[in-house]
Amino acid sequence: MINILEKEKGLFLPTYKRIPLDISHGESVYLYDKKGNKYLDFFSGLGVNALGYANSDIVYAVNEQMKKFSHLSNNFITDVQIEFAEKLLKYSGMSGIFLSNSGTEAIEGTIKLIRKVKGPDKKIFSFTGSFHGRTYGALTLTPKEKYQHGFEPLLSNIFYIKFNDIEDLQNKIDSNAAAIFIEFIQGEGGVVPASDEFVEKLNELRKKFSLIIVADEIQTGTGRTGKPFAYNHYNILPDIVVTAKAIGGGLPLGAILVSKEFRDVFSIGSHGTTFGGNPVACAAGNVVFKKVFEERLIENVENNGEYFINFLNKIKNDFQKDIKEVRGKGYMLGVEHFYDCSQIVEKFRERGVLVNCTNQNVIRILPPLIAMKEHIDLFISEYRNILKEKNI
Ligand SMILES: Cc1ncc(COP(=O)(O)O)c(C=O)c1O
Repeated sequence: MINILEKEKGLFLPTYKRIPLDISHGESVYLYDKKGNKYLDFFSGLGVNALGYANSDIVYAVNEQMKKFSHLSNNFITDVQIEFAEKLLKYSGMSGIFLSNSGTEAIEGTIKLIRKVKGPDKKIFSFTGSFHGRTYGALTLTPKEKYQHGFEPLLSNIFYIKFNDIEDLQNKIDSNAAAIFIEFIQGEGGVVPASDEFVEKLNELRKKFSLIIVADEIQTGTGRTGKPFAYNHYNILPDIVVTAKAIGGGLPLGAILVSKEFRDVFSIGSHGTTFGGNPVACAAGNVVFKKVFEERLIENVENNGEYFINFLNKIKNDFQKDIKEVRGKGYMLGVEHFYDCSQIVEKFRERGVLVNCTNQNVIRILPPLIAMKEHIDLFISEYRNILKEKNI
């Protein structure tokens, strides 16, 4: 039989560095390959699978919805979408919603909304180290040579500020600024939280210049950091929240959430999508919200997140030549090494643990929110073994 990776090369555009596993199925926090090997998945489909794999409540809700209708056009409104919208607005503190298929699409829609409010000449800002997606607006907001090179010209009137640099922030924000996109904990950038002082200054400038604060909560939302959204760790409520990934319980779904002031910016026909807010995805998402918020899975993330980071800090102390810093909150943790982490990721895989490396030297840990202490203990023990072996 031809190896699946060889087949892929003949079929797909070469955009992904595939993980060399042929997965047969997943269950709870584990993935299984076709050879019968079991892997603890602390990557959870890039932060999507909050309830792990094959969650029986999601399977049931999706099946029930499929029996009714899997898709209607957005010319209809359905109960399942209403329930989803009510829940997401309640947990985010926002007051109006637009549903998309992905995070990037929600970012694009938000750029359109900002331009409509503030006009074409005002400046939109994002931060160094941020990631907002790959379509033209989102790509322009993502100031990384690796992603932007070769795709110019990008969108006009988008500018960058150094993340966590108060002086740069103060120098660049003035009455010409329309909006600023921020990940309160940067994900792709290496799991880097905004400092309290930085957010305080941002809030001050927002009031002074009527700046629209857009929180990109695509990775950090739905309880990932131990609070509903990462901005809940700070003394701030954004004007607009963009979220995706975990909200669809493993199905494609994204959302733009706006405060009262921006509820009426779009009018009929000024924005839209065929699949956005798909009822099956909303049915799965409703289960995620029920488990994470109503049944308080989020407390598991908050408590075990502390437990996890304490152990990672102990590893840092014991392996000072390897690890520079441990960062993050809840179940979004990053361990910065002094060197490229790809080999560490491979060693983890050989030991039956899946984890991600971002920004070259940061091990990014995104367990499903259902992960318990016993799974964290296993991860920690394998991490120690890998570093011990490496240093022999
Ligand atoms: C912070 C952030 N913004 C935007 C995106 C893009 O979202 P999507 O891949 O759903 O289009 C991602 C995806 O990783 C992300 O982490």
